[in-house]
Amino acid sequence: MNRQQGSEARRGILAVGTLLVDHVQVIDEWPEQGRLATIRHSEDATGGAVPNVLRTLARLQSGLPLAAAGLVGRDGDGALIRAALESEGIDCARLEAVSEPTSMTQVITVRRGGQRTFFHQEGANRMLDAAWCEHLVSDHKIVHLAYLLLLPALEAPEPEFGVVAARVFARLQARGYHTSLDLVSVDEPARARQVVLPVLPFLDYLIINELEAQTLTGLPLRIGGALQAGAMGAAAQQLLEAGVRQVVVIHCPQGAWAASRRGECCQVPSYWLDPAMIAGTVGAGDAFCAGVLYGLHEGWPLAKTLRLGNACARFNLRSANAIDGAATLAELHAFMAEQAVAEQG
Ligand SMILES: Nc1ncnc2c1ncn2[C@@H]1O[C@H](COP(=O)(O)OP(=O)(O)O)[C@@H](O)[C@H]1O
Ligand SMILES: [Mg+2]
Repeated sequence: MNRQQGSEARRGILAVGTLLVDHVQVIDEWPEQGRLATIRHSEDATGGAVPNVLRTLARLQSGLPLAAAGLVGRDGDGALIRAALESEGIDCARLEAVSEPTSMTQVITVRRGGQRTFFHQEGANRMLDAAWCEHLVSDHKIVHLAYLLLLPALEAPEPEFGVVAARVFARLQARGYHTSLDLVSVDEPARARQVVLPVLPFLDYLIINELEAQTLTGLPLRIGGALQAGAMGAAAQQLLEAGVRQVVVIHCPQGAWAASRRGECCQVPSYWLDPAMIAGTVGAGDAFCAGVLYGLHEGWPLAKTLRLGNACARFNLRSANAIDGAATLAELHAFMAEQAVAEQG
């Protein structure tokens, strides 16, 4: 079998990285320190890139093989994540249960005004390191790792590659995967650049938002809240020149921009949803990633790929949590066709 055939035989998406549970607690009013607040309503939901991206992909009902990889605790939250993923037909053979607790966030929501406060426990995700990633072997076509900058063991300096994460991606590419990365937005530009720039030459796909792209490139993409749309294409191009092998995608509420090694550049406006109509933005970036990964997997033209990403993000905004807004590929295609007709008319 030659390399071409080998890569064509590979199918599906493996997601590795952040897995967590959000414990949402609704209270009437934020208490004074040392006082009691009564919880009026509680809800648990899977979160983090791995559940969000894979569950959005599963809801497409495309039949693409999907698998999760990462660490959970030997506890109820770990069981909750596994059950949620398995119920959607996602392969959980690469979810390992460890002695650390499952990573989780207590989300305290004040009913009046809806303001949310987060208490995060790093937990099992902290243990995800290069040695563990060595065991990732499968015949999926794409491996998507996220959220780098929230996985501390992958940030350590490494003599040959600069940073451990770069070695991990180099090894994954050597095993035949197309590699993909998404980040979490952090307010530490020096750390972000130090960790992410050495990784770029070992990525096939980089899918990030405008704030992350601004941090990595130093180009002003938002000035005082205003998007500098004219610079988005240049930022994608700069990241491609910094080493990304195939495609760089940058997304924001206004739209998505992409640049590819084959010389394609494109920009597609978002399916804008008025902020008053948004039930919640939790997981919208992951939903966007899911749509883009599907298009990349299928070898779609870039514009069509970005449109599916935008549509997945738009549908995500319909629900307060990361997953209930997700739609099937048929529903998304119908929506995109309807929007195209509306634009022409
Ligand atoms: N009002 C909106 N209309 C349409 N799409 C939106 C809107 N707001 C956000 N989005 C989509 O959701 C994405 C949010 O992604 P991101 O900033 O990475 O958030 P996170 O990763 O924290 O979920 C945007 O880039 C865009 O694709
Ligand atoms: Mg994001």
